[in-house]
Amino acid sequence: MGFPAERPRRLRRTRLIRELVRETELLPSDFIAPFFVKEGIAEPVAIPSMPGHHQHTLDTLLGAVEEVAKAGVRAVILFGIPASKDGEGRGAFHPEGIIQRALRRLKAAFGEDLLLIADLCLCEYTDHGHCGVLRDGKVDNDRTLEIYARIAVSQAEAGADVVAPSGMMDGQVGAIRKALDEAGFAETLILAYAAKYASSFYGPFREAAEGAPRFGDRRPYQMDPGNAAEALREVRLDVEEGADLVMVKPALAYLDVLRKVKETFGLPTAAYNVSGEYAMVKAAAERGWVEPRLATLEILTSIKRAGADLILTYHALEASRWLQEGGW
Ligand code: PBG
Repeated sequence: MGFPAERPRRLRRTRLIRELVRETELLPSDFIAPFFVKEGIAEPVAIPSMPGHHQHTLDTLLGAVEEVAKAGVRAVILFGIPASKDGEGRGAFHPEGIIQRALRRLKAAFGEDLLLIADLCLCEYTDHGHCGVLRDGKVDNDRTLEIYARIAVSQAEAGADVVAPSGMMDGQVGAIRKALDEAGFAETLILAYAAKYASSFYGPFREAAEGAPRFGDRRPYQMDPGNAAEALREVRLDVEEGADLVMVKPALAYLDVLRKVKETFGLPTAAYNVSGEYAMVKAAAERGWVEPRLATLEILTSIKRAGADLILTYHALEASRWLQEGGW
């Protein structure tokens, strides 16, 4: 065939035709909306590098979650910021900890209408800001697993439907699965941050979650950006250890990895459109350098097209509203 019989432009002529043949379509139910909740504040605190986002109080969290739920989002992921930190991150598994209280509040308010995901890590809770406990100034993998197991059970008890370990300790999914099962939470899901890279795009998040490492960096536990085969190994281990959903993080600089993970394992796969990716769009939009609505929908579409079934994104609320208004 070929030209003139083949005229691909016929399929692009009008909005109606374009919508009819679009291969990848975003839905509000693709999104998981992240929220920060902080202990000991009376008013929400705006996060300067993440316009539109706040460290919430328990009360304002409820309203903000209601807003995204109204826009069609069905899942949220919560990050807690405790009032005080210690070497072991004890606030992460305290029954009256900020995340446990937030989970109970949201579960009581939304019941089965909203999926509650709890990020499971120590960096917001330790005074040194690392994702695990230390021994001789280094993160002690296996002792950290014992603490992750306690956090998982306390989050499930508080109402988490899903726990999402993000610390990149070896064996974390297996340790958490075992602890959940033994505590009677066989139905609690695990969303594994399986391939999480040591990325420069987490900067705004670390300000928001007050979880930056006080010394060193996370390169001894998070993945090297050069590696894709290693991502498959990480995902395989998490699947073998019992992960229900797997995640690639960040999204945009790792779309190739996302595609490989989806094609190799075929599991429900999430991608985290991280804070730095969000901040870049907002910063450029503020300067008038990109059109925010089109740029955002294009970025989110690219992540879904690459293989994501679910997208964790700070754009969840605005993107859902744009989609409800007709999208592009
Ligand atoms: C840490 C955690 C991080 C993010 C999610 N969980 C930061 C880090 O690893 O330093 C980053 C999310 C984002 O940048 O949006 N447990």
